[in-house]
Amino acid sequence: MENLALAFLGLSKDERSLLSAIETGMKTHEWVPSFVISELSGLPSKKVEFLLGQLFEKKLVERESMHYLGYRIDFPAYDLLALSDFVKKGAVLAIGERIGVGKESVVYEGLGEKPLAIKLHRQGRTSFKHVRRLRDHLTDKPKVPWLYAAALAARREFAVMQRLYPAVSIPRPVSCSRHALAMEYVAGPALNRVTLSDAREGLDMILIEMARAFRLGLIHADLSEFNIIIAESGPVIIDWPQAVEVDHPHAGELLERDLVNILRFFQRKYGIDLALDEALLRVVGAD
Ligand SMILES: Nc1ncnc2c1ncn2[C@@H]1O[C@H](COP(=O)(O)OP(=O)(O)OP(=O)(O)O)[C@@H](O)[C@H]1O
Ligand SMILES: [Mg+2]
Repeated sequence: MENLALAFLGLSKDERSLLSAIETGMKTHEWVPSFVISELSGLPSKKVEFLLGQLFEKKLVERESMHYLGYRIDFPAYDLLALSDFVKKGAVLAIGERIGVGKESVVYEGLGEKPLAIKLHRQGRTSFKHVRRLRDHLTDKPKVPWLYAAALAARREFAVMQRLYPAVSIPRPVSCSRHALAMEYVAGPALNRVTLSDAREGLDMILIEMARAFRLGLIHADLSEFNIIIAESGPVIIDWPQAVEVDHPHAGELLERDLVNILRFFQRKYGIDLALDEALLRVVGAD
């Protein structure tokens, strides 16, 4: 879906109810029959048939004909349901341009009380094919595992951010719905795209934030110059869904990998030599 905001505006209340009914139906059906959609939405079946046709044209529902005609939703409709939830909660007033496309997410600008970044988690459908096969024999398997995985990632990231904010310099978490997370928009370039006037101080500040997270029991586990925004106030660390607890079996390795990424960047770009042991001590040894 190219323009999320436009698609969002073009959706009627009934269409939204249908999408939400399909979402509910997908808990029990891989492909939801239209009579179930009618039951769940409380809309008459003739109207449901007509609206499903429209939603299919808009590529917001997928259709499969077996011994019955079944429907399901994928990321485009899931995006709209999450956004409409944010609007209903009053967390988001408007959606703007796409500002980032990562490996596992799409990020949009938004407007709430203040400027927002709205991160829509995406989990590769292909990478879930095998998970699906593995889970086929389970009775409580999620019917569309990639939506489930994306929602899990968003929930995890939101919970981590709520734990860290405001002790650690991260965007303020605002709201979470399904696979979507609304947070404070942080103005500024990523660390890899600026030249710091005082790089040593920059590195110190990053280590201090890592130490603060560590004291709250968390290791980022995907830290690099791409996940640090240099704001007016200093470095702000983003992208937390994979964070691990400090007692995780691989915590040591993951913390070292984060540090190596940062130290290597500062050594390469600014010629700063700081030994891994010394940096490690600053992160875990600070009281
Ligand atoms: N709070 C924010 N304020 C401003 N920009 C943001 C914010 N959050 C994310 N972005 C932008 O969106 C991009 C992707 O976000 P993020 O790193 O969280 O997602 P990702 O998909 O995990 O990324 P990747 O896989 O590339 O690491 C960021 O690099 C940044 O440019
Ligand atoms: Mg990132």
